[in-house]
Amino acid sequence: MCGIVGILGTSSVAPMIVDGLKRLEYRGYDSAGVATLENGHLERRRAEGKLRNLEARLREQPLSGTIGIGHTRWATHGKPTERNAHPHATDKLAVVHNGIIENFRELREELERDGVRFDSETDTEVVAQYVSREMRRTNDPVAAVAASLPRFRGAFALGFVFDGQDDLLIGARRGAPLAIGWGDGEMYLGSDALALAPFTDTITYLEDGDWAILRRGGAEIRDEANEIVERPRQKTTAGAFLVDKGAHKHFMAKEIHEQPEVVGRTLAHYLDMATGRVRLPFETPFDWKDLDRLTISACGTAYIAGLIGKYWFERFARLPVEIDVASEFRYREAPLPRKGLALFISQSGETADTLASLRYAKENGQKILSVVNVPTSSIARESDVVAPTLAGPEIGVASTKAFTCQLTVLACLAVAAGLERGTLSEAEGLRLVTELIAAPGLIAEALKHEHAIEHVARDISKVTDVLYLGRGTSYPMALEGALKLKEISYIHAEAYAAGELKHGPIALIDETMPVIVIAPRDAIYEKTVSNMQEVAARGGRIVLISDEHAAAESGLAGLETVVMPNMGPDFAPIVYAVPVQLLAYYAAVALGKDVDQPRNLAKSVTVE
Ligand code: F6R
Repeated sequence: MCGIVGILGTSSVAPMIVDGLKRLEYRGYDSAGVATLENGHLERRRAEGKLRNLEARLREQPLSGTIGIGHTRWATHGKPTERNAHPHATDKLAVVHNGIIENFRELREELERDGVRFDSETDTEVVAQYVSREMRRTNDPVAAVAASLPRFRGAFALGFVFDGQDDLLIGARRGAPLAIGWGDGEMYLGSDALALAPFTDTITYLEDGDWAILRRGGAEIRDEANEIVERPRQKTTAGAFLVDKGAHKHFMAKEIHEQPEVVGRTLAHYLDMATGRVRLPFETPFDWKDLDRLTISACGTAYIAGLIGKYWFERFARLPVEIDVASEFRYREAPLPRKGLALFISQSGETADTLASLRYAKENGQKILSVVNVPTSSIARESDVVAPTLAGPEIGVASTKAFTCQLTVLACLAVAAGLERGTLSEAEGLRLVTELIAAPGLIAEALKHEHAIEHVARDISKVTDVLYLGRGTSYPMALEGALKLKEISYIHAEAYAAGELKHGPIALIDETMPVIVIAPRDAIYEKTVSNMQEVAARGGRIVLISDEHAAAESGLAGLETVVMPNMGPDFAPIVYAVPVQLLAYYAAVALGKDVDQPRNLAKSVTVE
């Protein structure tokens, strides 16, 4: 949600800020803006819509100056217009903001009573005006920010520059991420290390509640109590990852095609490929044998990965699993067991609801394990132990390779738990690991069917509603199929457990409604065939995603099939994710939608 960049530079910073913002556009793309100090005075350019609009504005009206801040926005308060775009400015300062100031109404009223006039509908302008009022009292930007921060409630990251102050940048973080970058005579501020990768590989992550006073010579960091604190500098590898699309038209296509490699890389981190055994890359601060229950919580696609993980933990480790979306879990006041492990799954590691759920679980005595893609994220840092997914940066807003890597890690953890708890024999463990090791090759094979899937997707793109069905682990895969299709093609899609069909949704079936059935030939395949028969009997049009023998075995005539490789049944979701992703991708492409940056969405959801 919103991306922030700030630079205290030695040459013109506006182009550098735009460069950093390009790497943050995944966080929001409703509007963008830059403010710099030209001859000591604040100037800004803002534009509605994508960053390219701001670039065009800057070409018409360039901004000079060696200090500045920039922002790419995902609207929370106020429409995504230029007037509501950041930076927000007064005669004293300009500010960029990620997050929400929850008490902005109360503060706005207080300021209005004081005669302050507002220019926008945003909560951010309250920050600009509040700190400016403090500056009128103290004439000291640092003291003004120090006095103001305790008044702001909510989760936020802020970046300030001040009129007439050519060597001062202030950043503050509470709830939302913010990093400082160290350069040679230059200093930087950014929502993540990726944004700062073109400038530096030396990063300090601010802790929650910290704020920092940056000058070209360095930074002073203070904690929530305003005490000066030391935070470590770390070398990051963010720069090693090229943020480009390679030969692909979209990041999403590139990321779908990267799956054989990143799933293989993740497996190699958790398995001893030579002996075919699980070898977790960390010590667990709990004993799998002692656990009474596993509680899983996450959002969106990461939650769906957790749903699939539930089947694996219950089947392989006989470990009872409770799972809920984080936005519900955090407020449910769920009783948690004495010997419980809580597992959180997140690509970004910054999702506000997931982080709040983690904190709830911690307060309630659970050991915390997290499966995250960004190892420096808040969720990773607040966990007892981190199980990383080695997907590399995921730029497309729709999660693809992070999802299959999450599944890969969950599968390895479930097998490890089963072996430790004695619910899997050595031989069963070896068999499962052999199946896992085959996954990257099978994903590559599934990708070979891309053109056939594109063909089906073109047909799907012509309808307004789609139903997805699946049983067992294919039920969450059906949920993922519907979510992917909705979010990037805007076609309405719903998913049901195949057995639920006759309890209501079957009423929707007619010859116009495509029903996409995800059904690897496993122990419950025949049950799903019965459900397909129910659809066929009502004239429904079935697209079956299964292996080459499935259609013949079903006995149903005229089935349209998306062919998947023959494989063992246990880890089918890791491979069946591919057709589900490609179907959504090609449907969106056929409709001319903005695949990588679908409307209203953002990659990192740091507001609740
Ligand atoms: C869907 C998608 C989202 C995310 C969700 C959680 O394609 O990407 O549903 O999965 O917003 O995000 P993370 O994993 O960063 O916590």
